[in-house]
Amino acid sequence: MTYNITIIPGDGIGPEVTSQAKKALDAIADVFDHNFIYQTALMGACAIDETGNPLPDETVNLCKKSDAILFGAIGHPKYDNDPSAKVRPEQGLLKLRKALGLFCNVRPVKAYKQLLSKSPLKEERIAGTDISIYRELTGGIYFGEKKLSEDETVAFDGCSYSVEEISRITHLAFQEARIRKQKVTLVDKANVLETSRLWRKTVTEIAKEYADITLDFLFVDNAAMQMILNPTQFDVILTENLFGDIISDEASVIGGSIGLLASASIGNDTALFEPIHGSYPEAAGKNIANPLASILSAAMLLRHLKLEKEAALIEEAANKSLELGFITADINPDSPFSTSKVGDFIADYILNPEDTNRNFKNIFVGQSTII
Ligand code: IPM
Ligand code: MN
Repeated sequence: MTYNITIIPGDGIGPEVTSQAKKALDAIADVFDHNFIYQTALMGACAIDETGNPLPDETVNLCKKSDAILFGAIGHPKYDNDPSAKVRPEQGLLKLRKALGLFCNVRPVKAYKQLLSKSPLKEERIAGTDISIYRELTGGIYFGEKKLSEDETVAFDGCSYSVEEISRITHLAFQEARIRKQKVTLVDKANVLETSRLWRKTVTEIAKEYADITLDFLFVDNAAMQMILNPTQFDVILTENLFGDIISDEASVIGGSIGLLASASIGNDTALFEPIHGSYPEAAGKNIANPLASILSAAMLLRHLKLEKEAALIEEAANKSLELGFITADINPDSPFSTSKVGDFIADYILNPEDTNRNFKNIFVGQSTII
């Protein structure tokens, strides 16, 4: 089959990690006889530098025409440290989410067996963690009215949600729970926020259509604590935009490295796949960043295109790289592999799963003591 994939490398480590994901996709195309047609598009600080606009129209048009989008990362310190900057890289991503109607962000968090000892959390607490975070992505305080008083001494960010915005992601979260452990936890702040009370009411109503699913509620402050104390209690977490942003970074600690967390942003038409890590500017161009989150985002992309076997093979390759220690310094500081070598390993495994150990004995000779 032929698929059109737009790649947006973005800023910082984005280009390095997306090119490893592309290597994995190329290997998949080879093995399964698919034809992936790639287009590359600009977004973020690099787009501002080149065009003055963090999201050129051309990027939106390409994305609209493609079957799926693979995105790297966004952001640059020169903007982070300048709160008065009128044009910011992140505006590109926020506008793209809105333009493509990507209202549902799915962030899976797993405690990989091989990495239990790498997490700063106690092994016995995190073993078995398998959470799917459903974060609302095109509403709430991110997209509310913003104001700054004329004398610049008072600022305002409005937060609103409609029943429709809450309902569409809620249905997706319940459908996901059906094929998982039949539990949805709504994370909100319904003791304080009107929007949260509307979430509770709407979600409770929808839950009646899913009698097989258990619904429970947690205030976000408590949820942040529970995520560290007892993360195995969670199955699907459903939450609004800002809470989901914060909770998912927190949850990434469970996996041992934020460099492993992939995500899917889905709407009614096309979908976008990206690591949850940022642009990590300190590492840009050094070939040291962990490419697995981007590679696992490519696996989510394939699953979204209903290419289940293909997705599973990428995940198997990623597991293998963790198992054998063919991995970057964030996880393997003693004998780290470069970003591109990890990408080579993944592609090689996909092309040749039987033979990988032997091949890599030759390719990496002298670099690691693990094999
Ligand atoms: C994320 C990021 C973005 C967000 C930023 C870059 C705007 O942190 O995808 O989680 O806050 O949504
Ligand atoms: Mn974030």
